Amino acid sequence: MAKIKLVNINKTFWQKDYPLQVLKRINLLIDEPGLYVLCGPSGSGKTTLLNLISGLDFPTSGKVYINDKLIDYKPTNIALIFQNHYLFNDLTAFDNVCLSAYITNQEINLESINLLFKQFQLTHIINQKVKFCSGGEKQRISILRAIVSNPEIIIADEPTGALDEKTANIIVDNFKKLSYKRIIIVITHNKKLFKKVADKIFNLKNGQLYEENTKTMEESHCI
Ligand SMILES: Nc1ncnc2c1ncn2[C@@H]1O[C@H](COP(=O)(O)OP(=O)(O)OP(=O)(O)O)[C@@H](O)[C@H]1O
Ligand SMILES: [Mg+2]
Repeated sequence: MAKIKLVNINKTFWQKDYPLQVLKRINLLIDEPGLYVLCGPSGSGKTTLLNLISGLDFPTSGKVYINDKLIDYKPTNIALIFQNHYLFNDLTAFDNVCLSAYITNQEINLESINLLFKQFQLTHIINQKVKFCSGGEKQRISILRAIVSNPEIIIADEPTGALDEKTANIIVDNFKKLSYKRIIIVITHNKKLFKKVADKIFNLKNGQLYEENTKTMEESHCI
């Protein structure tokens, strides 16, 4: 089963001549499947933290382990859903979702892909070019692209940001189902939306990580 371990993570960015320490001695162990929610004010370092877990960036000091292996490249068992989608506008929704399979020469299971589009209420735009899709549709296409490869770990940065409440709930319900077998980490500004389904809620404040008791809302420092 997938496992994420962060040990004494510090991350400092240089902004002009000044250092900005975004993450301060963060420790975290996630070793069970589940839906893990990461909250915190804008600029608190949420995306920075997920970039370190997914190998897109490296800590100033400290270590990131995925499945007990020190991270030194972008692991293929982690799927990412980005804050700003990164879809190919001139390709159809279907081709965007299947692109990685085309490139790696994998067989495409039409039935399961059609089912995914149905589950996320996207059947009507399956053959539409992404540039003609709405913001919320693009957001869901980027989610399908991430989950189609059946990854062990899914990391999603604000996956419900562009969605109305009903559509956001479709994402939440699907993430919950997917989280029984894998680790899903979701960044959100909408804690209320995930509260009922989250296995754990973490709050990032002043560079430090706190775990929130989902019932009492009390916080404890992650050390
Ligand atoms: N490459 C970089 N160089 C310099 N500063 C950076 C860099 N990346 C992020 N920062 C700064 O680090 C801080 C944390 O940024 P980050 O994107 O992690 O915030 P966030 O919690 O994801 O915010 P939001 O909720 O707005 O997406 C911000 O002040 C940002 O300006
Ligand atoms: Mg962010």
